[in-house]
Amino acid sequence: MKHYLQFSDFGADEYAYLFERAALIKRKFKAYERHQTLTDRTLAMIFEKASTRTRVSFEAGMYQLGGSVVHLTTGDSQLGRAEPIEDSAKVISRMVDLVMIRTFEQTKIEAFAAHSRVPVINGLTNEFHPCQILADLFTLLEHRGANPQGKPDPAFLRGKTVAWVGDGNNMANTWLQAADILGFTVHVSTPSGYEVDQSVAGIRSSGSYKVFANPMDACAGADLVTTDVWTSMGYEAENEARKKAFNDWCVDQDMMRAAKPDALFMHCLPAHRGEEVEAEVIDGPQSVVWDEAENRMHVQKALMEYLLLGQQG
Ligand code: CP
Ligand code: NVA
Repeated sequence: MKHYLQFSDFGADEYAYLFERAALIKRKFKAYERHQTLTDRTLAMIFEKASTRTRVSFEAGMYQLGGSVVHLTTGDSQLGRAEPIEDSAKVISRMVDLVMIRTFEQTKIEAFAAHSRVPVINGLTNEFHPCQILADLFTLLEHRGANPQGKPDPAFLRGKTVAWVGDGNNMANTWLQAADILGFTVHVSTPSGYEVDQSVAGIRSSGSYKVFANPMDACAGADLVTTDVWTSMGYEAENEARKKAFNDWCVDQDMMRAAKPDALFMHCLPAHRGEEVEAEVIDGPQSVVWDEAENRMHVQKALMEYLLLGQQG
């Protein structure tokens, strides 16, 4: 049994399979063709933090695959009344086939997985957001890295540059893991005090990322420029201090001009226009944020299918 708790849980071959499968699943969805490989399977979704995209993409995706979902939050379950995570894992995993969790510390999802009879998927923790990076990479391949047959070609990623402008957060950590596995480089620029931490990111070497004090330098020659909110969920008490510290880490048109002429812009959303990104960039021609959001559903359908059935076709 496999879990998907962080990006490094899978290797390059598994990602190549998932990208190809997600492309097939997306094509069928667009053609209104049924793709019901998980009939009668049930996904439990546990949210200890808010969500729009993660909830809708997993819930709609599971129904489209022929299965059903159970939605739990801290407020409306015993999780919010201090039932041990291990006990919750033992009970929930006897009744469903798959569990997706959005929570705080990575150690919490690891404890759940250790006591679960069924695969567990990370729907965002303080440290990682692997489903989002899966969608982001699929989106990059869809726009720039398709082979002559129109299929996503992960070899495209080798030697490419992704500029990360902003917080050294769960998204940044996951980008570092992805770069390590898929052979690209991340140019990271964060305000001082908000750097990425290689040990938290869980990567073996610093070979796949470079740190830049100035965000313009990080964007120079990049194939993709990406950012995220200044204050992630769970860090709201730091909001005012972060607003001051992050003032120069707003992706603007000058940064996009410093990147390659055909560079894309991504943001996992929700976005704050005028903070981490200018409206002209996120709503401009290089932005692919709506495809990025939609692709959460297609890649996660491939992921759920893979965790329950293994490679298909
Ligand atoms: N990008 C993302 O995970 O969005 P939600 O917080 O809306 O799920
Ligand atoms: N880094 C953000 C991502 C939200 C999808 C957060 O953790 O709140």
